[in-house]
Amino acid sequence: MSETVRVGFVGAGIIARRHLGDLAGFDDVRVVAVADVALERARELAGSTGANAYSDVAEMIEAERLDALYICVPPFAHGKPEESAIAAGLPFFVEKPLSVDLPTAEQIAAAVEENRLVTAVGYHWRYLDITERAQDLLSANPARLVLGYWLDSTPPVAWWIREATGGGQFVEQTTHIFDLARQLVGEVDCVQGFGSRQERAEFPDADILDASVASLRFRSGAVGSVASTALLAWPHRIGLHLFSDRLAIELSEFELLVDVGKGRPIQLAEGDPFVREDRDFIDAVKGGQNRIRAPYAEALRTQRLAIAAARSLREGGAIEP
Ligand SMILES: NC(=O)c1ccc[n+]([C@@H]2O[C@H](COP(=O)([O-])OP(=O)(O)OC[C@H]3O[C@@H](n4cnc5c(N)ncnc54)[C@H](O)[C@@H]3O)[C@@H](O)[C@H]2O)c1
Repeated sequence: MSETVRVGFVGAGIIARRHLGDLAGFDDVRVVAVADVALERARELAGSTGANAYSDVAEMIEAERLDALYICVPPFAHGKPEESAIAAGLPFFVEKPLSVDLPTAEQIAAAVEENRLVTAVGYHWRYLDITERAQDLLSANPARLVLGYWLDSTPPVAWWIREATGGGQFVEQTTHIFDLARQLVGEVDCVQGFGSRQERAEFPDADILDASVASLRFRSGAVGSVASTALLAWPHRIGLHLFSDRLAIELSEFELLVDVGKGRPIQLAEGDPFVREDRDFIDAVKGGQNRIRAPYAEALRTQRLAIAAARSLREGGAIEP
């Protein structure tokens, strides 16, 4: 590979724009192509970097000389982009969630492993300096109680409000919290959820649950619960609270509170976790040290947990992820 990593994008929406902006700040990366089923969107994003625009990912990979792919499509659209990357031996960065279901992600994971591809998944909370500090504190004093929250608004995109296209709030959004809980507390061996739904005139096409809660039992013996709602019009609380022997931690995407009974000192997050995850992916693609914190196989374990929690909401009962 030459010194410059040639990147293609699949999906030209909000998160693609963010990654593309990060990559534009790296002098060893060039975004050379963008594919989106909505060609005008691909054109618009490609225009900002002089990249070529396509409406089909396979066509883009065939026509371009790429070193890596960024897959930034909605949950229902996974499968084909990853299969195209794997067939071409292309390392890929993919946004969470891995897919709307489990079988698609399991198949992709098996093919990634077989082809020993470099992959990274956009669980950017893993790259927060305050997550690292929480991890340090908990390594000496493991959490016994875990309370997770995603109490927020309903994103104004059509695919998000339907279970079949977005996967529901647990799978689409709260997956960040499930991932963080796995990282900081370990694997979950049992999950049971309850959900509820209210008709809202503002979202006549919605069919997702808009309030849900899941109880978790961790292998370590810790217990927890994760609550989500999309009923608000603003982000009220998004984060993970962890409780150990004489230690309470509240972690959000922006700040960390460490309560040891001496006031409520808050540490603000520093640096940009999106830039960090992009840098680690590019370095691994270049053959440097692989520091990627959420490769596909690791993210698959989070997907199994989120899907198990979502299944329990629908079917009832306790499920082993
Ligand atoms: N890590 C994070 O914090 C974070 C933040 C935002 C979004 N995301 C994730 O990124 C994904 C995309 O979110 P978004 O907000 O950018 O959505 P978006 O709706 O803004 O953009 C998605 C784009 O994908 C295109 N698309 C749909 N199907 C396609 C296909 N088969 N092939 C090519 N393009 C296709 C759409 O036309 C659209 O332009 C979601 O899974 C979301 O959860 C992650």
